[in-house]
Amino acid sequence: MLKIKNLTYTYPEGATALKDVTMELPKEHILAILGRSGSGKTTLLKCIGKFLKPQSGDIILNDESIFGIPREKLRRSIGIVFQELYLFPHLTILENMILAPVRVLKKDKEIVSKEAEDILAKLGIKDLCDRYPSQISGGQAQRAAIARALIMKPQYVLLDEPTSALDLNTTEEFGKWLLELKAKTTFVIVTHDVLFTQNIANFGFLFSKGKVQAQGTMEHIVETLKRKKHTGNDLPLRSNKH
Ligand SMILES: Nc1ncnc2c1ncn2[C@@H]1O[C@H](COP(=O)(O)OP(=O)(O)OP(=O)(O)O)[C@@H](O)[C@H]1O
Ligand SMILES: [Mg+2]
Repeated sequence: MLKIKNLTYTYPEGATALKDVTMELPKEHILAILGRSGSGKTTLLKCIGKFLKPQSGDIILNDESIFGIPREKLRRSIGIVFQELYLFPHLTILENMILAPVRVLKKDKEIVSKEAEDILAKLGIKDLCDRYPSQISGGQAQRAAIARALIMKPQYVLLDEPTSALDLNTTEEFGKWLLELKAKTTFVIVTHDVLFTQNIANFGFLFSKGKVQAQGTMEHIVETLKRKKHTGNDLPLRSNKH
């Protein structure tokens, strides 16, 4: 279980991006975090990844504060794919994938390479494994970054806007794959894509101005969004029909 307790984060420039946020992210689920642009979603992921240190509050992973866990060890339990992806530009896609398992987990290079190819094949980009990040499209790079997080087999994988550069077919395939994997890995999906999470998430959180405005089933979240639509405080809701 990952617990966020009374988390507050203010950027040095002054914006308070998280205001006393408390939430529980149980395992073996697909969880969605929705919210308008600027509502604090990425800031939350950066705090969970220890890239930002909150001014107050705590983040507890399996009864242990993450602030006492070395970052390299935390990476084995929590994988994060940010909007900017951060693939190493001087390494091929395959090299990007096997770097941490070989260096950090001390796994056999050949075995890990085979695992990497299997994951890349599932995401439809196996034929790109010898290319460099600059030689593939944005959507392909996004899948490569997701594949790189998954190969560590972390308990949690947090994905910031994972479908923003994927076409509809790839998004559907990706959704099915997350459903297959959720027994072993909990996915926390930060997104504007309400329809995508509506179909696959077990539970959702709605962020507004640095606070959790609503939480519950996706049905409840969508209902809340529809109500807010009248106040102009909505996310774009798409029709369920493609
Ligand atoms: N590096 C930064 N320095 C100062 N303020 C920042 C910084 N990054 C984000 N903010 C501010 O913090 C607030 C929350 O930003 P955050 O990136 O967490 O939003 P978000 O919900 O991820 O938005 P989006 O959906 O556009 O990605 C915003 O008001 C934003 O302007
Ligand atoms: Mg963001």
